[in-house]
Amino acid sequence: MLQKPTQKKHSQNVSFDGPEGQEDMPFLLTPGPLTTSPSVKFAMLADWGSRDIEFRHLVANIRRQLLVIANAGEAYECVLMQGSGTFAVEAALGSFCPTGRKIKTLVVINGAYGHRAAKILKHLKRPHMTLEFDEETPVSASKVESALKANEDIEVVFVVHCETTTGVMNPLEDICKVCKDNGKTVYVDAMSSFGAIAVDMEKSGIDILVSSANKCIEGVPGFGYVLCRRDLLEASKGKSHSMSLDLYDQWQVMEKTAQFRFTPPTHALVAFGQALREHTEEGGTTARGKRYQRNCDTLLKGMRKLGFETLLSDDVSGPIIQTFLSPADPKFDFDIFYEALRSHGFAIYPGKLTKRDSFRIGTIGKLDANVFTRLFKAITVVLDDMGVTNNAPQK
Ligand SMILES: Cc1ncc(COP(=O)(O)O)c(C=O)c1O
Repeated sequence: MLQKPTQKKHSQNVSFDGPEGQEDMPFLLTPGPLTTSPSVKFAMLADWGSRDIEFRHLVANIRRQLLVIANAGEAYECVLMQGSGTFAVEAALGSFCPTGRKIKTLVVINGAYGHRAAKILKHLKRPHMTLEFDEETPVSASKVESALKANEDIEVVFVVHCETTTGVMNPLEDICKVCKDNGKTVYVDAMSSFGAIAVDMEKSGIDILVSSANKCIEGVPGFGYVLCRRDLLEASKGKSHSMSLDLYDQWQVMEKTAQFRFTPPTHALVAFGQALREHTEEGGTTARGKRYQRNCDTLLKGMRKLGFETLLSDDVSGPIIQTFLSPADPKFDFDIFYEALRSHGFAIYPGKLTKRDSFRIGTIGKLDANVFTRLFKAITVVLDDMGVTNNAPQK
């Protein structure tokens, strides 16, 4: 059905047999862009006009369906924003985080994406404070509460759900509860978890949630989305630092015309429409989360059998991505390991830890446990070729 690109580098020992419909491409064992289904890719083989009535229906449906997945009721809106996830994160920070002299935003950090939010706020000159935890430690809701009690001017709390830096899951329910008990606005970066780990925006009191097309809904990159309370959007009129990232304006135009203000990523939206259909057909967030968990269980079992160690304990690592500590064996070199695995049909991901050498393997995307079983065979061959005999990390 789809054209096969010709990047093939066959190994003699392990067959290169990538995702269905694109067997010459590697499986993307990454947190996105990720491996998509043939039908999601196929949906992009048509050129859509951004003013077409069918296209506008598609945009309206996508907005509606995302709200349903988030369990966001009548009081919520969905605004799509062109660009990668960071553009949507920035659009929402610029629309909802107060200006002025007093510090009114708390950024909770236990990895790169919390740091990124703080960096954006610094650029935007929005006064904020941070509450930092180790990369391998989930956020403590009680410490968030103490910070709120000690800083009563705080109005907005920003927190990442799955910190993709390590894969650690933050205890969202507990964090929301302490924020709500203290009357705060909760802003969740659910980029890498939305669609696989259930959220109930209304029940949990999440006011703002951001994710993007190329994560657990299994679409392709091109846009992000902000789900938020309508009254917050209304109050954000004229507050954005940016014309193109102005959520209020984007929302108003989408509401009135079902169009984007500026050129929409038409192919990515059509692919996302198909990805949403497949999300529903699979059984929604619960079923998707279960498949990812099976992938993850298979991955952890197989890697541990090979002697690898994970950064996190299983009770705090979610089903999205796993961080493995690099073997201490001097023959191990990540770049060589990566390239060799790539030539066997698997694209893994470098580590993002600040203190230890590591690499990551994502378990999201159109993948099942068989892919990981094949991965172990490739890893065994590659490490053997590299002369690595011990996969245990530096103690
Ligand atoms: C939790 C989280 N937040 C934000 C981002 C940024 O998204 P993007 O790289 O699409 O800008 C990512 C990307 O993986 C992420 O995992």
